[in-house]
Amino acid sequence: MNSEITKNLLLSHTVLSKMFNFNLSNPGKYKGNELKYLKKVLKSENLSSLSGSWVGRLENNFCKTINSKFAIAMNSGTSTLHSILESLNLPEGGEVLIPALSVIMDSTVCFLSDLVPIYVDIDPNTFLMDPIDLRKKITRNSVAIITVSLYGNVPSMDQISEIAKENNIFLIEDNAQAIFASTGNKKVGDWGIASSWSFENTKHISCGEGGMVTTNKKDLAESIRKIGGHGFKNLRAEEGRVRLVDDIFQDPEYERHDILGWNYRMSEISAAVALAQLERAKELVAMRKYNANKLIEAIDSHKILIPQLIPENASCDYYTFSCLYNQEYSKGISWQEFRKLFKAKTGMGIYGAWQVQYKEPMIYNGAFKYRNKKLYDGLDYKNTKCENAEKVQRKIMQFKTNIRSKRLTDDIANKLNEIIKEVGI
Ligand SMILES: Cc1ncc(COP(=O)(O)O)c(C=O)c1O
Repeated sequence: MNSEITKNLLLSHTVLSKMFNFNLSNPGKYKGNELKYLKKVLKSENLSSLSGSWVGRLENNFCKTINSKFAIAMNSGTSTLHSILESLNLPEGGEVLIPALSVIMDSTVCFLSDLVPIYVDIDPNTFLMDPIDLRKKITRNSVAIITVSLYGNVPSMDQISEIAKENNIFLIEDNAQAIFASTGNKKVGDWGIASSWSFENTKHISCGEGGMVTTNKKDLAESIRKIGGHGFKNLRAEEGRVRLVDDIFQDPEYERHDILGWNYRMSEISAAVALAQLERAKELVAMRKYNANKLIEAIDSHKILIPQLIPENASCDYYTFSCLYNQEYSKGISWQEFRKLFKAKTGMGIYGAWQVQYKEPMIYNGAFKYRNKKLYDGLDYKNTKCENAEKVQRKIMQFKTNIRSKRLTDDIANKLNEIIKEVGI
Protein backbone atom coordinates (compact mmCIF):
# COMPACT_ATOMS: atom_id res chain seq x y z
CA MET A 1 0.00 0.00 0.00
CA ASN A 2 1.34 3.45 -0.82
CA SER A 3 -0.04 5.56 2.01
CA GLU A 4 1.96 8.70 1.03
CA ILE A 5 0.19 8.86 -2.36
CA THR A 6 -3.23 8.43 -0.76
CA LYS A 7 -2.55 10.99 1.94
CA ASN A 8 -1.46 13.64 -0.55
CA LEU A 9 -4.29 12.94 -2.97
CA LEU A 10 -6.86 12.93 -0.20
CA LEU A 11 -5.59 16.24 1.10
CA SER A 12 -5.66 17.91 -2.31
CA HIS A 13 -9.11 16.56 -3.22
CA THR A 14 -10.63 17.60 0.10
CA VAL A 15 -9.13 21.10 -0.08
CA LEU A 16 -10.18 21.57 -3.72
CA SER A 17 -13.75 20.45 -3.19
CA LYS A 18 -14.06 22.83 -0.21
CA MET A 19 -12.58 25.74 -2.19
CA PHE A 20 -14.73 25.31 -5.28
CA ASN A 21 -17.79 23.65 -3.77
CA PHE A 22 -17.59 20.89 -6.38
CA ASN A 23 -20.64 19.03 -5.17
CA LEU A 24 -23.61 19.62 -7.42
CA SER A 25 -26.82 18.60 -5.71
CA ASN A 26 -29.02 15.66 -6.67
CA PRO A 27 -32.58 16.81 -7.61
CA GLY A 28 -35.59 15.38 -5.72
CA LYS A 29 -36.66 11.80 -6.20
CA TYR A 30 -40.43 12.13 -5.71
CA LYS A 31 -41.27 14.71 -8.35
CA GLY A 32 -44.21 13.00 -10.09
CA ASN A 33 -47.71 12.54 -8.68
CA GLU A 34 -46.53 11.34 -5.25
CA LEU A 35 -47.70 14.36 -3.26
CA LYS A 36 -50.97 14.71 -5.17
CA TYR A 37 -51.86 11.07 -4.53
CA LEU A 38 -50.81 11.22 -0.89
CA LYS A 39 -53.17 14.13 -0.29
CA LYS A 40 -56.02 12.14 -1.82
CA VAL A 41 -55.32 9.14 0.42
CA LEU A 42 -55.28 11.30 3.54
CA LYS A 43 -58.47 13.04 2.50
CA SER A 44 -60.21 9.68 1.98
CA GLU A 45 -59.35 8.64 5.58
CA ASN A 46 -58.99 5.08 4.26
CA LEU A 47 -55.35 4.37 4.96
CA SER A 48 -55.65 0.58 4.89
CA SER A 49 -55.93 -1.62 1.81
CA LEU A 50 -58.80 -3.48 3.51
CA SER A 51 -61.13 -0.73 2.36
CA GLY A 52 -59.11 1.71 0.23
CA SER A 53 -58.45 1.57 -3.49
CA TRP A 54 -54.82 2.68 -3.95
CA VAL A 55 -53.25 -0.72 -3.33
CA GLY A 56 -55.61 -2.17 -5.93
CA ARG A 57 -54.65 0.54 -8.43
CA LEU A 58 -50.97 -0.13 -7.84
CA GLU A 59 -51.50 -3.87 -8.32
CA ASN A 60 -53.41 -3.39 -11.59
CA ASN A 61 -50.79 -1.03 -12.91
CA PHE A 62 -47.98 -3.37 -11.91
CA CYS A 63 -49.67 -6.28 -13.73
CA LYS A 64 -49.74 -4.18 -16.89
CA THR A 65 -46.13 -3.01 -16.47
CA ILE A 66 -44.73 -6.49 -15.87
CA ASN A 67 -47.25 -8.26 -18.08
CA SER A 68 -48.43 -10.56 -15.33
CA LYS A 69 -51.95 -11.82 -14.60
CA PHE A 70 -51.86 -11.23 -10.84
CA ALA A 71 -50.01 -8.88 -8.52
CA ILE A 72 -50.19 -8.77 -4.73
CA ALA A 73 -48.71 -5.76 -2.95
CA MET A 74 -46.97 -6.31 0.39
CA ASN A 75 -45.02 -4.34 2.96
CA SER A 76 -41.56 -5.55 1.84
CA GLY A 77 -39.63 -7.63 -0.67
CA THR A 78 -38.99 -10.11 2.16
CA SER A 79 -42.66 -10.64 3.09
CA THR A 80 -43.20 -11.39 -0.60
CA LEU A 81 -40.53 -14.12 -0.70
CA HIS A 82 -41.79 -15.65 2.55
CA SER A 83 -45.40 -15.68 1.31
CA ILE A 84 -44.35 -17.35 -1.96
CA LEU A 85 -42.46 -20.11 -0.13
CA GLU A 86 -45.35 -20.64 2.33
CA SER A 87 -47.89 -20.88 -0.48
CA LEU A 88 -46.06 -23.66 -2.35
CA ASN A 89 -46.67 -26.36 0.31
CA LEU A 90 -43.03 -27.36 0.38
CA PRO A 91 -42.04 -30.27 2.64
CA GLU A 92 -40.25 -29.46 5.90
CA GLY A 93 -36.48 -29.64 5.36
CA GLY A 94 -36.76 -29.17 1.59
CA GLU A 95 -33.64 -27.62 0.07
CA VAL A 96 -33.88 -24.24 -1.63
CA LEU A 97 -31.02 -23.34 -3.96
CA ILE A 98 -30.03 -19.69 -3.74
CA PRO A 99 -27.00 -17.71 -4.97
CA ALA A 100 -24.30 -17.38 -2.33
CA LEU A 101 -23.86 -13.71 -3.19
CA SER A 102 -27.14 -12.05 -2.29
CA VAL A 103 -28.95 -10.40 0.59
CA ILE A 104 -29.45 -12.38 3.81
CA MET A 105 -33.22 -12.26 3.26
CA ASP A 106 -32.97 -15.05 0.68
CA SER A 107 -31.77 -17.24 3.56
CA THR A 108 -34.01 -15.93 6.32
CA VAL A 109 -37.20 -16.64 4.39
CA CYS A 110 -36.08 -20.28 4.06
CA PHE A 111 -35.55 -20.55 7.82
CA LEU A 112 -38.95 -18.91 8.40
CA SER A 113 -40.55 -21.65 6.26
CA ASP A 114 -38.68 -24.64 7.79
CA LEU A 115 -36.60 -25.02 4.65
CA VAL A 116 -32.84 -25.39 4.14
CA PRO A 117 -30.92 -22.84 2.02
CA ILE A 118 -28.23 -24.35 -0.18
CA TYR A 119 -25.70 -21.88 -1.51
CA VAL A 120 -24.84 -21.92 -5.20
CA ASP A 121 -21.63 -20.31 -6.46
CA ILE A 122 -21.65 -17.44 -8.92
CA ASP A 123 -20.10 -16.72 -12.26
CA PRO A 124 -17.09 -14.47 -11.44
CA ASN A 125 -17.83 -12.13 -14.36
CA THR A 126 -21.60 -11.65 -14.19
CA PHE A 127 -21.73 -12.15 -10.36
CA LEU A 128 -24.90 -14.24 -10.94
CA MET A 129 -25.91 -17.81 -10.07
CA ASP A 130 -23.74 -20.28 -11.99
CA PRO A 131 -25.92 -22.94 -13.68
CA ILE A 132 -23.03 -25.45 -13.62
CA ASP A 133 -22.68 -25.24 -9.84
CA LEU A 134 -26.47 -25.21 -9.52
CA ARG A 135 -26.69 -28.57 -11.28
CA LYS A 136 -24.04 -30.03 -8.96
CA LYS A 137 -25.96 -28.94 -5.87
CA ILE A 138 -29.34 -30.46 -6.81
CA THR A 139 -30.25 -33.44 -4.60
CA ARG A 140 -33.34 -35.59 -3.96
CA ASN A 141 -34.30 -33.04 -1.31
CA SER A 142 -34.24 -30.00 -3.62
CA VAL A 143 -37.63 -28.30 -3.78
CA ALA A 144 -37.02 -24.85 -5.25
CA ILE A 145 -34.54 -22.45 -6.81
CA ILE A 146 -34.56 -18.71 -6.07
CA THR A 147 -32.71 -16.67 -8.71
CA VAL A 148 -31.58 -13.13 -7.96
CA SER A 149 -31.23 -10.39 -10.61
CA LEU A 150 -28.21 -8.95 -8.86
CA TYR A 151 -27.62 -5.22 -9.44
CA GLY A 152 -30.25 -5.43 -12.19
CA ASN A 153 -28.46 -8.12 -14.25
CA VAL A 154 -30.52 -11.15 -15.38
CA PRO A 155 -29.18 -14.62 -14.47
CA SER A 156 -28.94 -17.42 -17.08
CA MET A 157 -32.66 -18.00 -16.81
CA ASP A 158 -33.05 -20.34 -19.81
CA GLN A 159 -30.51 -22.78 -18.39
CA ILE A 160 -31.75 -22.41 -14.83
CA SER A 161 -35.39 -22.95 -15.76
CA GLU A 162 -34.35 -26.04 -17.75
CA ILE A 163 -32.68 -27.42 -14.61
CA ALA A 164 -35.79 -26.63 -12.56
CA LYS A 165 -38.00 -28.43 -15.11
CA GLU A 166 -35.74 -31.49 -15.37
CA ASN A 167 -35.82 -31.88 -11.60
CA ASN A 168 -39.46 -30.97 -11.19
CA ILE A 169 -38.78 -28.20 -8.69
CA PHE A 170 -40.14 -24.66 -8.40
CA LEU A 171 -38.40 -21.65 -9.87
CA ILE A 172 -38.91 -18.38 -7.99
CA GLU A 173 -37.46 -15.05 -9.13
CA ASP A 174 -36.16 -12.48 -6.67
CA ASN A 175 -36.29 -9.33 -8.78
CA ALA A 176 -35.91 -6.83 -5.95
CA GLN A 177 -33.13 -5.10 -7.91
CA ALA A 178 -34.64 -5.13 -11.41
CA ILE A 179 -37.82 -4.17 -13.18
CA PHE A 180 -37.48 -4.34 -16.99
CA ALA A 181 -34.17 -6.23 -17.32
CA SER A 182 -34.23 -8.84 -20.07
CA THR A 183 -32.35 -11.40 -22.10
CA GLY A 184 -33.43 -12.25 -25.64
CA ASN A 185 -37.14 -11.58 -25.85
CA LYS A 186 -37.93 -12.39 -22.21
CA LYS A 187 -38.06 -10.03 -19.26
CA VAL A 188 -37.53 -10.61 -15.55
CA GLY A 189 -40.70 -12.09 -14.13
CA ASP A 190 -41.31 -14.24 -17.24
CA TRP A 191 -39.62 -17.42 -16.02
CA GLY A 192 -40.58 -18.17 -12.42
CA ILE A 193 -43.80 -19.59 -11.02
CA ALA A 194 -43.80 -16.37 -8.99
CA SER A 195 -41.66 -13.29 -8.83
CA SER A 196 -40.79 -11.05 -5.89
CA TRP A 197 -40.10 -7.29 -6.17
CA SER A 198 -39.06 -4.68 -3.62
CA PHE A 199 -39.94 -0.98 -3.28
CA GLU A 200 -37.52 -0.35 -0.43
CA ASN A 201 -35.97 3.12 -0.30
CA THR A 202 -33.06 2.49 -2.71
CA LYS A 203 -34.92 0.51 -5.36
CA HIS A 204 -35.93 1.66 -8.86
CA ILE A 205 -39.46 2.23 -7.60
CA SER A 206 -39.49 3.24 -3.98
CA CYS A 207 -42.00 4.07 -1.27
CA GLY A 208 -39.79 3.62 1.79
CA GLU A 209 -40.72 -0.02 2.37
CA GLY A 210 -42.84 -2.20 0.12
CA GLY A 211 -42.92 -5.16 -2.22
CA MET A 212 -44.96 -7.00 -4.83
CA VAL A 213 -45.53 -10.61 -5.85
CA THR A 214 -46.46 -11.39 -9.44
CA THR A 215 -47.65 -14.70 -10.81
CA ASN A 216 -49.84 -16.01 -13.62
CA LYS A 217 -51.35 -18.75 -11.44
CA LYS A 218 -54.68 -17.85 -9.91
CA ASP A 219 -54.65 -20.42 -7.07
CA LEU A 220 -51.16 -19.40 -6.08
CA ALA A 221 -52.05 -15.69 -6.17
CA GLU A 222 -55.05 -16.31 -3.91
CA SER A 223 -53.01 -18.33 -1.46
CA ILE A 224 -50.22 -15.71 -1.39
CA ARG A 225 -52.72 -12.92 -0.76
CA LYS A 226 -54.33 -14.85 2.09
CA ILE A 227 -50.97 -15.73 3.67
CA GLY A 228 -50.02 -12.05 3.61
CA GLY A 229 -53.48 -10.95 4.78
CA HIS A 230 -54.16 -12.79 8.08
CA GLY A 231 -55.67 -15.75 6.23
CA PHE A 232 -58.99 -13.93 5.63
CA LYS A 233 -61.11 -16.45 3.75
CA ASN A 234 -62.76 -13.96 1.40
CA LEU A 235 -59.50 -12.62 -0.04
CA ARG A 236 -59.19 -13.35 -3.73
CA ALA A 237 -56.33 -13.47 -6.23
CA GLU A 238 -57.34 -10.10 -7.67
CA GLU A 239 -58.98 -8.45 -4.64
CA GLY A 240 -57.39 -7.39 -1.35
CA ARG A 241 -60.38 -5.68 0.24
CA VAL A 242 -62.11 -7.89 2.82
CA ARG A 243 -64.89 -5.53 3.90
CA LEU A 244 -66.63 -5.10 0.58
CA VAL A 245 -69.92 -6.53 1.85
CA ASP A 246 -70.17 -4.86 5.22
CA ASP A 247 -73.42 -6.55 6.35
CA ILE A 248 -71.87 -10.00 5.98
CA PHE A 249 -68.48 -9.07 7.42
CA GLN A 250 -69.96 -7.49 10.55
CA ASP A 251 -72.42 -10.32 11.28
CA PRO A 252 -71.38 -11.92 14.63
CA GLU A 253 -71.89 -15.35 13.07
CA TYR A 254 -69.43 -14.66 10.26
CA GLU A 255 -66.23 -16.79 10.28
CA ARG A 256 -63.30 -14.85 8.92
CA HIS A 257 -60.12 -16.93 8.76
CA ASP A 258 -59.61 -20.29 7.07
CA ILE A 259 -55.79 -20.48 6.79
CA LEU A 260 -52.78 -19.34 8.82
CA GLY A 261 -51.59 -15.95 7.66
CA TRP A 262 -49.62 -12.89 8.72
CA ASN A 263 -50.08 -9.18 8.21
CA TYR A 264 -47.84 -8.35 5.26
CA ARG A 265 -50.23 -5.84 3.74
CA MET A 266 -49.08 -2.62 2.12
CA SER A 267 -50.67 0.59 3.39
CA GLU A 268 -52.57 2.97 1.11
CA ILE A 269 -49.96 5.65 1.79
CA SER A 270 -47.14 3.45 0.49
CA ALA A 271 -49.27 2.37 -2.48
CA ALA A 272 -49.95 5.99 -3.47
CA VAL A 273 -46.21 6.77 -3.53
CA ALA A 274 -45.33 3.51 -5.30
CA LEU A 275 -48.04 4.11 -7.93
CA ALA A 276 -46.68 7.58 -8.72
CA GLN A 277 -43.20 6.09 -8.99
CA LEU A 278 -44.44 3.25 -11.20
CA GLU A 279 -45.91 5.80 -13.62
CA ARG A 280 -42.31 6.98 -14.14
CA ALA A 281 -40.72 3.52 -14.16
CA LYS A 282 -39.33 3.76 -17.69
CA GLU A 283 -37.76 7.15 -17.00
CA LEU A 284 -36.33 5.97 -13.65
CA VAL A 285 -34.70 2.90 -15.22
CA ALA A 286 -33.40 4.89 -18.21
CA MET A 287 -31.74 7.32 -15.81
CA ARG A 288 -29.89 4.49 -14.03
CA LYS A 289 -28.76 3.08 -17.37
CA TYR A 290 -27.51 6.48 -18.51
CA ASN A 291 -25.50 6.84 -15.31
CA ALA A 292 -23.98 3.37 -15.58
CA ASN A 293 -22.99 3.95 -19.20
CA LYS A 294 -21.27 7.22 -18.29
CA LEU A 295 -19.23 5.41 -15.63
CA ILE A 296 -18.36 2.64 -18.10
CA GLU A 297 -17.06 5.32 -20.48
CA ALA A 298 -15.07 6.89 -17.64
CA ILE A 299 -13.38 3.59 -16.81
CA ASP A 300 -12.60 3.05 -20.48
CA SER A 301 -10.04 0.25 -20.81
CA HIS A 302 -8.37 0.81 -17.42
CA LYS A 303 -8.01 -2.51 -15.67
CA ILE A 304 -8.24 -1.10 -12.15
CA LEU A 305 -12.05 -1.41 -12.41
CA ILE A 306 -13.72 -4.24 -14.33
CA PRO A 307 -17.49 -3.72 -14.77
CA GLN A 308 -19.95 -6.54 -14.03
CA LEU A 309 -20.37 -8.45 -17.30
CA ILE A 310 -23.75 -8.03 -18.94
CA PRO A 311 -24.24 -11.09 -21.17
CA GLU A 312 -24.78 -10.58 -24.88
CA ASN A 313 -28.37 -9.79 -25.86
CA ALA A 314 -29.16 -8.96 -22.21
CA SER A 315 -30.29 -5.62 -20.87
CA CYS A 316 -29.36 -4.66 -17.29
CA ASP A 317 -31.38 -2.25 -15.12
CA TYR A 318 -28.30 -1.14 -13.16
CA TYR A 319 -29.75 -0.96 -9.66
CA THR A 320 -26.16 -0.02 -8.94
CA PHE A 321 -23.18 0.02 -11.28
CA SER A 322 -20.86 -2.64 -9.91
CA CYS A 323 -17.24 -3.38 -10.71
CA LEU A 324 -14.39 -5.48 -9.45
CA TYR A 325 -11.65 -3.38 -7.90
CA ASN A 326 -8.28 -4.72 -9.02
CA GLN A 327 -5.73 -3.42 -6.55
CA GLU A 328 -2.92 -5.01 -8.59
CA TYR A 329 -3.60 -2.43 -11.32
CA SER A 330 -3.29 0.50 -8.87
CA LYS A 331 -0.29 2.26 -7.41
CA GLY A 332 -0.74 0.24 -4.22
CA ILE A 333 -4.10 1.82 -3.35
CA SER A 334 -6.43 -0.41 -1.32
CA TRP A 335 -10.20 -0.76 -1.85
CA GLN A 336 -10.84 1.40 1.22
CA GLU A 337 -8.35 4.07 0.11
CA PHE A 338 -9.85 4.26 -3.38
CA ARG A 339 -13.27 4.75 -1.80
CA LYS A 340 -11.94 7.55 0.40
CA LEU A 341 -10.43 9.30 -2.62
CA PHE A 342 -13.67 9.00 -4.59
CA LYS A 343 -15.67 10.34 -1.65
CA ALA A 344 -13.32 13.26 -1.08
CA LYS A 345 -13.50 14.22 -4.73
CA THR A 346 -17.20 13.64 -5.47
CA GLY A 347 -18.88 13.76 -2.06
CA MET A 348 -20.41 10.40 -2.91
CA GLY A 349 -19.67 7.02 -1.35
CA ILE A 350 -19.10 3.64 -2.96
CA TYR A 351 -20.99 0.63 -1.61
CA GLY A 352 -19.31 -2.66 -0.76
CA ALA A 353 -21.08 -5.98 -1.36
CA TRP A 354 -22.78 -7.80 1.53
CA GLN A 355 -20.92 -10.77 2.94
CA VAL A 356 -21.50 -14.03 1.11
CA GLN A 357 -24.59 -15.23 3.01
CA TYR A 358 -23.11 -18.22 4.82
CA LYS A 359 -20.28 -15.99 6.09
CA GLU A 360 -22.69 -14.02 8.25
CA PRO A 361 -22.55 -15.07 11.92
CA MET A 362 -26.31 -15.70 12.05
CA ILE A 363 -25.66 -18.59 9.65
CA TYR A 364 -22.24 -19.98 10.54
CA ASN A 365 -22.96 -19.73 14.30
CA GLY A 366 -26.28 -21.50 13.79
CA ALA A 367 -28.31 -18.68 15.39
CA PHE A 368 -31.21 -19.58 13.05
CA LYS A 369 -31.58 -23.04 14.59
CA TYR A 370 -33.92 -21.97 17.39
CA ARG A 371 -36.64 -21.74 14.71
CA ASN A 372 -36.84 -25.52 14.45
CA LYS A 373 -34.35 -27.26 16.71
CA LYS A 374 -35.20 -30.75 15.48
CA LEU A 375 -34.92 -29.93 11.79
CA TYR A 376 -31.76 -27.85 11.98
CA ASP A 377 -29.89 -30.01 14.48
CA GLY A 378 -26.75 -31.17 12.66
CA LEU A 379 -27.05 -28.59 9.87
CA ASP A 380 -23.69 -26.86 9.70
CA TYR A 381 -22.54 -24.24 7.19
CA LYS A 382 -19.00 -23.93 8.56
CA ASN A 383 -17.53 -25.92 5.66
CA THR A 384 -19.64 -24.35 2.92
CA LYS A 385 -17.44 -22.82 0.26
CA CYS A 386 -18.38 -20.95 -2.91
CA GLU A 387 -14.97 -19.85 -4.15
CA ASN A 388 -16.01 -17.36 -6.81
CA ALA A 389 -18.53 -15.66 -4.55
CA GLU A 390 -15.96 -15.25 -1.77
CA LYS A 391 -13.30 -13.91 -4.12
CA VAL A 392 -15.59 -11.50 -5.94
CA GLN A 393 -17.43 -10.22 -2.82
CA ARG A 394 -14.31 -8.56 -1.38
CA LYS A 395 -13.53 -6.78 -4.64
CA ILE A 396 -16.97 -5.44 -5.56
CA MET A 397 -17.41 -1.69 -5.72
CA GLN A 398 -20.94 -0.48 -6.33
CA PHE A 399 -21.40 3.02 -7.66
CA LYS A 400 -24.68 4.80 -7.12
CA THR A 401 -26.88 5.05 -10.23
CA ASN A 402 -29.70 6.96 -8.59
CA ILE A 403 -28.31 10.29 -9.78
CA ARG A 404 -31.03 12.48 -11.16
CA SER A 405 -29.04 15.13 -12.98
CA LYS A 406 -27.01 14.54 -16.12
CA ARG A 407 -24.67 17.38 -15.10
CA LEU A 408 -23.97 15.68 -11.79
CA THR A 409 -23.45 12.33 -13.50
CA ASP A 410 -21.04 13.83 -16.03
CA ASP A 411 -19.16 15.56 -13.21
CA ILE A 412 -18.85 12.31 -11.23
CA ALA A 413 -17.79 10.35 -14.32
CA ASN A 414 -15.07 12.92 -15.09
CA LYS A 415 -13.80 12.74 -11.52
CA LEU A 416 -13.76 8.95 -11.56
CA ASN A 417 -11.72 9.10 -14.75
CA GLU A 418 -9.27 11.53 -13.12
CA ILE A 419 -8.82 9.31 -10.05
CA ILE A 420 -8.27 6.24 -12.21
CA LYS A 421 -5.61 8.09 -14.18
CA GLU A 422 -3.96 9.26 -10.96
CA VAL A 423 -3.87 5.97 -9.10
CA GLY A 424 -4.14 3.34 -11.85
CA ILE A 425 -1.18 1.76 -13.64
C1 LIG B 1 -32.01 -9.07 -3.91
C2 LIG B 1 -32.91 -8.64 -2.81
N1 LIG B 1 -33.83 -9.50 -2.34
C3 LIG B 1 -34.67 -9.17 -1.37
C4 LIG B 1 -34.63 -7.93 -0.77
C5 LIG B 1 -35.56 -7.63 0.34
O1 LIG B 1 -36.37 -6.57 0.09
P1 LIG B 1 -36.94 -5.65 1.26
O2 LIG B 1 -35.80 -4.82 1.77
O3 LIG B 1 -38.00 -4.85 0.61
O4 LIG B 1 -37.46 -6.57 2.31
C6 LIG B 1 -33.72 -6.98 -1.23
C7 LIG B 1 -33.67 -5.62 -0.67
O5 LIG B 1 -32.74 -5.14 -0.13
C8 LIG B 1 -32.81 -7.34 -2.26
O6 LIG B 1 -31.91 -6.48 -2.72
